[in-house]
Amino acid sequence: MTTITVIRGDGIGPEIMDATLHVLDAMQLGLQYEFADAGMVALEKHGELLPAATMDSIRRNRIALKSPLTTPVGGGFSSINVELRKRFDLYANVRPAKSFPNTKSRFPSGVDLVTVRENTEGAYIGEGQALSEDGEVATLTQKITRRGSERIVRYAFDLARKTGRRKVTVVHKANILKSTSGLFLKTAREVAQQYPDIECNEMIVDNTCMQLVMRPEQFDVIVTTNLFGDIISDLCAGLVGGLGLAPGANIGTEAAIFEAVHGSAPDIAGQGIANPCALLLGAGQMLDHLGMADQGNRLRGAIIATLEARDTLTPDLGGSGTTLTFAKAITSRL
Ligand code: NAI
Ligand code: MG
Repeated sequence: MTTITVIRGDGIGPEIMDATLHVLDAMQLGLQYEFADAGMVALEKHGELLPAATMDSIRRNRIALKSPLTTPVGGGFSSINVELRKRFDLYANVRPAKSFPNTKSRFPSGVDLVTVRENTEGAYIGEGQALSEDGEVATLTQKITRRGSERIVRYAFDLARKTGRRKVTVVHKANILKSTSGLFLKTAREVAQQYPDIECNEMIVDNTCMQLVMRPEQFDVIVTTNLFGDIISDLCAGLVGGLGLAPGANIGTEAAIFEAVHGSAPDIAGQGIANPCALLLGAGQMLDHLGMADQGNRLRGAIIATLEARDTLTPDLGGSGTTLTFAKAITSRL
């Protein structure tokens, strides 16, 4: 019996989580859920956005399925997602982008790639961020380490091997950012030599953006540093139908957290019309991570079959179904 921490979240969070658990329950996976609060709901109930009990639960179970959280604006609250990333050293942000049928997408077929983004270094860590007193000059220090580069590239190659993918593209800007991107690229080349069974190629980040838009089918696994990975993974989500279908995982040495990429969607919360697919696909990534890739494929297969049949899709996909009828349609195709 595997116990996972389940965070129902804010806004549409509880609705898409209920739908997701409905489907997971029907799969009879032997998963046990430990519910924990985070976000606005936790702030109201316990006076904290990220209560200690929630952290303990994730630390104990090492696996969490998480709905979107609302970070209050103002009041000095830092992002909960950033906090989780720091506390559990969630160094790999893994974002699959796959074409799905009957979605309003530029590439309804042909795209099946995964972006692996380094999550703990580089431009986003905020070291040495400064603005001169007169407000005229801003500076930022970017730190890239061999250790950080090595573990993310290794993660990407291991993922390729484990999931039957054949190629890893190392995305960089070492021609200009000679020290930081240079170290990342050099380390990546060394790691790649240890995976002779996986093809490795290198691509400069700006060219990568153009190639992704023109010929995304050439990509399989992309591995890159924090800032480039942030931008590229959203670009990839946009290629294949946007937020409602984009899952993500944050994988670390101490825990792994699976989620939808989108936020708590306050504009449609409480209406029961949110698309549960992104969180369901996040649950699929969780099953893969737990060594249940067959079940992950079963779940993805049922989602694809439901999209193909256009069965009670939610309004964002052009249907008139609800979160729950959509989930039930998926369940019936497991
Ligand atoms: P959002 O992703 O919540 O919403 C953007 C647009 O996409 C909205 O029109 C929304 O209705 C739609 N949308 C999003 N998910 C959908 C779904 N599953 N089905 C149908 N439509 C969907 O982004 P926004 O509005 O910028 O952020 C809202 C709140 O979410 C903020 O408090 C933000 O901090 C938080 N947020 C949390 C994240 C997380 O916990 N991982 C990630 C991004 C934002
Ligand atoms: Mg982003």
